[in-house]
Amino acid sequence: MANEDIFKKVISHSKEYGFVFPSSEIYDGLGAVYDYGQNGSELKKNIKDYWWKAMVQFNENVVGIDSSIFMHPTIWKASGHVDSFNDPMIDNKDSNKRYRADELIESKADEYMAAGNEDKAATLLNRMSNLLEKNDLDGLRDLIIENDIVCPISNTKNWTSVRQFNLMFSTKMGSTADEADEIYLRPETAQGIFVNFINVQKTGRMKIPFGIAQIGKAFRNEIIARQFIMRMREFEQMEMQFFVRPGEDRKWYEYWKEERMKWHLSLGINKEYYRYKDHVKLAHYANAAVDIEYMFPFGFKEVEGIHSRTDFDLKQHQEFSGKKLQYFDPEINKNYIPYVIETSIGVDRMFLVILCNSFKEEEVKNGDKVDIRTVLNIPPILAPYKVAILPLVKKDGLPEKAREIMNKLKPHFNCFYDEKDAIGKRYRRQDAIGTPYCVTIDYDTFNDGQVTIRNRDNMFQERISIDNIEKILFDKVNYNSLLK
Ligand code: GAP
Repeated sequence: MANEDIFKKVISHSKEYGFVFPSSEIYDGLGAVYDYGQNGSELKKNIKDYWWKAMVQFNENVVGIDSSIFMHPTIWKASGHVDSFNDPMIDNKDSNKRYRADELIESKADEYMAAGNEDKAATLLNRMSNLLEKNDLDGLRDLIIENDIVCPISNTKNWTSVRQFNLMFSTKMGSTADEADEIYLRPETAQGIFVNFINVQKTGRMKIPFGIAQIGKAFRNEIIARQFIMRMREFEQMEMQFFVRPGEDRKWYEYWKEERMKWHLSLGINKEYYRYKDHVKLAHYANAAVDIEYMFPFGFKEVEGIHSRTDFDLKQHQEFSGKKLQYFDPEINKNYIPYVIETSIGVDRMFLVILCNSFKEEEVKNGDKVDIRTVLNIPPILAPYKVAILPLVKKDGLPEKAREIMNKLKPHFNCFYDEKDAIGKRYRRQDAIGTPYCVTIDYDTFNDGQVTIRNRDNMFQERISIDNIEKILFDKVNYNSLLK
């Protein structure tokens, strides 16, 4: 099956089974905004928990915060977002479609690479990087024309000029118009961490190196929103700023680059599906940056960024706020503004990684026939439900016994109860939402105190004692994969 078809299937499966819905659907939707349904919100919460455990619970020198979305407008001036949080846009006059100029050029470089023309690709990216550096928008347009880059819809080179477009959403704060102050919906959670650096350092008596982590919503007025939840206007980030001694930034950059890749692989995702990609164009705040990319059905794309942000942000906030944002390092008896290594991953993109990676259509024998089983092999720790409790029939005391077992398990595991339809059909429903284990209660349960446990991935079934269910599930569904 073509990759495009797989992706279409993933999108329709996620809607059909309550993972992701278009926002405001009964009003025909809202561009690039999505809602998470009953199963999607569980999966999303579990992804966030998995990240939080890895970053905060497993690292004694990392603490978490939850800062507000609205912040003082000067913060965005200081951070550079008011002046530089732009995308270079270009329109095709024949198709009326708008593109990011840098993405068009990067796709062309990928094409050159695929054709074995590595030098040409490198030259193109270098030239783009220099032009972006100088904010030479006419030069970018010339580069597009020169490399015969055409609009994928119209196939023509009939391009407009390149313009910069700021991605921040703004609104007004205050009850009357004349009091109103223009404020921004944060385009990244990171600034909430920077402006709380001193608060956390002092109240937590934190010693450098230390990190501050945060999960929260971010908003960007993305011009080109496509590929489902890949590029949204309202999305969620999981970010961590790690404050280090100046001069030790490179060491910690390498450390977090490796740690974050380990986190991705700890979920059992095939290594071949991941790669690092160094940034060609560094953001205004960074002296090194790399993306962790996953091979989606539409190609390798960024899931997470690791950025060495120098002392740019704290220095800027110190200057704009007039408050000292320095640290006294007792080991070297010196005051300094710390350098920062940032890890920044999109929750929604990680959600898409899990969906794309786990969606399978398998042929299974059913007597003489071959059926197609649709299954989500979601890592058990992330699955919306860990176990489904299924009485074989809904009479003769089986539902009561099943409820008894469910009551024992539900303080520890999210359980799904289902007594409707034949057992085979119920197994398929659980496969489709990624429940790793099904526990079936039958007539023998009353005699031998045992139930059947079925494994989602290999469909094996075994009899186990009711007394052991909890322990068996704990052994299978836990955070041990995060232990190094
Ligand atoms: N604080 C640094 C920062 O925000 P970024 O590379 O712009 O860096 C970090 O964003 C991550 O946030 C990305 O790797 C991606 O996973 C996610 N992200 C960014 N823009 C997004 C969007 N429009 N929709 C969904 N996720 C997005």
